[in-house]
Amino acid sequence: MSFQVLIHKTSDFVSSQEVHNYQSAINQAYTDLAQHTGKGNDFLGWQTLPSATPDSFLTEIEAVAAKIRQNSEILVVIGIGGSYLGAKAVIDALSHHFSASLSAAQRKAPLVVFAGNNICADYHADLFNLLEGKDYSVAVISKSGTTTEPAIAFRLFKQHLESKYGKAGAKERIIAVTDPKSGALRQLATTEGYTTFSIPPDVGGRFSVLTAVGLLPIAAAGFDIRQLMAGAKDMENVGNGDTTIGKNPISTYVAVRNALYKKGRYIEILANYHPRLQYLGEWWKQLYGESEGKEHKGIFPASVNFSCDLHSMGQLIQDGERNIYETVISVAKTKQQINIPNDADNLDKLNFLAGKTLQEVNKMAEKGTLIAHVAGKVPNVLIEIDSITAYSLGQLIYFFEKACAVSGYVLGVNPFDQPGVEAYKTNMYALLGKAGFEELAKEIRAKL
Ligand code: PA5
Repeated sequence: MSFQVLIHKTSDFVSSQEVHNYQSAINQAYTDLAQHTGKGNDFLGWQTLPSATPDSFLTEIEAVAAKIRQNSEILVVIGIGGSYLGAKAVIDALSHHFSASLSAAQRKAPLVVFAGNNICADYHADLFNLLEGKDYSVAVISKSGTTTEPAIAFRLFKQHLESKYGKAGAKERIIAVTDPKSGALRQLATTEGYTTFSIPPDVGGRFSVLTAVGLLPIAAAGFDIRQLMAGAKDMENVGNGDTTIGKNPISTYVAVRNALYKKGRYIEILANYHPRLQYLGEWWKQLYGESEGKEHKGIFPASVNFSCDLHSMGQLIQDGERNIYETVISVAKTKQQINIPNDADNLDKLNFLAGKTLQEVNKMAEKGTLIAHVAGKVPNVLIEIDSITAYSLGQLIYFFEKACAVSGYVLGVNPFDQPGVEAYKTNMYALLGKAGFEELAKEIRAKL
């Protein structure tokens, strides 16, 4: 299993002692996670998903995914936050970069598009436009079953499907993924007789990618969910093994990020050099932001896509305020190789690159940037993987989840709740005239 966390490029900023000082807090966090004695301990079901998910469940997911593949050119996944980011991250990481522009025959699997993660009219109107004349299905995913954005989107898509296929036909094309018992979506799914998958009550949204929340869209897009789970399972075993910092990559990452935070590095920038990893960064930001940002504490998670963003954020990273550090996802191999050609005129003076592969150049951009940023006083953590596959994505997902939980405990917060997310919702409901919110509406309007 090729997966390494290297922290030697942080050593100018935090000493080995400062990193190793976290060992006992980290050990305590592992114990609390294993024994369910820490904060938010009713949301720890994600820990054993890779090892405890039965084969029969994966077969069930694959069967529903096969039906979608057979009757739909497009799958619309309705969900927000943890109910869409993991699926989007994995699907983007494994897909043809231009899959939206490929024909259905070239793609060999439905195009997976997302809705209900915003309330923008133009976005949804364009999506309906895309669906015109095409067969499609909808996976509506909401753990609570009451989240406003996906609920609004589902109203729209339910009506659209019913007018296109009739009520009975629509029912065959709607899959609901939600709480096994509670919430409006579960009630609706039961009444309407939709195919459903349950999200285990002890798995929170942002830790749910390895449940049907992520697995169904990923399988429908044609990717190997068994390999994804195999990578995650190997990382689950790592998490259950020797927890020594320096030996265990999860402990190493947790220790170094907390040591850097203590030294005033308040912002962690997750960097990648492959456009297909952009949404892994988005998923990671939600995981860490929503889990750690509490009680006026928490590292601000940001992400960049290099080398593109070296021409936008590169200046600030090189020379701006020194409150940042980078975590680089370093990928050894790409799937394909392209050689740079010789040019007889050599006007761009780049013939010294002729014969080299794009990956070689990309790697040297990565190494050059690493040296430049460290010289510019930005600590760098490296996460090295061999290639971007379902297996390595499974490793990364479980790695980041476990590290997030351990890190949250080390920080002293409950990594599994999100009380701060409610504030905007109540204000929005009040402004939209929801009954019972009249007083708040007056208060807010006075502030607008
Ligand atoms: O991590 C979380 O719990 C949240 O980000 C949720 O995933 C998000 O709010 C969506 O919630 P739900 O799946 O209940 O619609």
